[in-house]
Amino acid sequence: MQIKFLQLQTHGDERGSLISLEHEKNIPFEIKRVYYMFNTKEGVRRGFHAHQQLKQVVIAVRGSCRFLLDDGKEKISIFLDNPAQGLLIESFMWREMHDFSDDCVLMVLADRLYDESDYIRDYNDFLKLIKMVDKQND
Ligand code: TYD
Repeated sequence: MQIKFLQLQTHGDERGSLISLEHEKNIPFEIKRVYYMFNTKEGVRRGFHAHQQLKQVVIAVRGSCRFLLDDGKEKISIFLDNPAQGLLIESFMWREMHDFSDDCVLMVLADRLYDESDYIRDYNDFLKLIKMVDKQND
């Protein structure tokens, strides 16, 4: 599985740092929605879903957390702790997030509005859908 990281340019000077997120400049889709998770309690695991259409870029703007990405064939664990690094998550990718630091602010950019019908929340359904998509692409 290929993991795609986006290196985000930091504009820094003696005042501090600034990162800008802009369609076509450093984000490979039109941003339709932004949400962020914070105050995540100790031991909590989130996510446990994939999407049929949605693409996302995830950035730990503060603190750190761990992602498990699973394309149905391989599972990869990724540690996010850098506000200048975006993790691109394409559709049909199962994700779980855990090990949130107390101060973690996890920001997500998405190319679509919130749509519950785009979610795949059952892991066995996910595996079945992946097989169907693979067959269609053969
Ligand atoms: P949930 O899907 O459980 O988050 P995660 O899977 O990342 O742990 O979302 C928590 C709640 O927030 C749920 O009631 C749906 C709502 N929500 C929105 O209203 N808009 C959004 O863009 C997102 C991501 C969630």
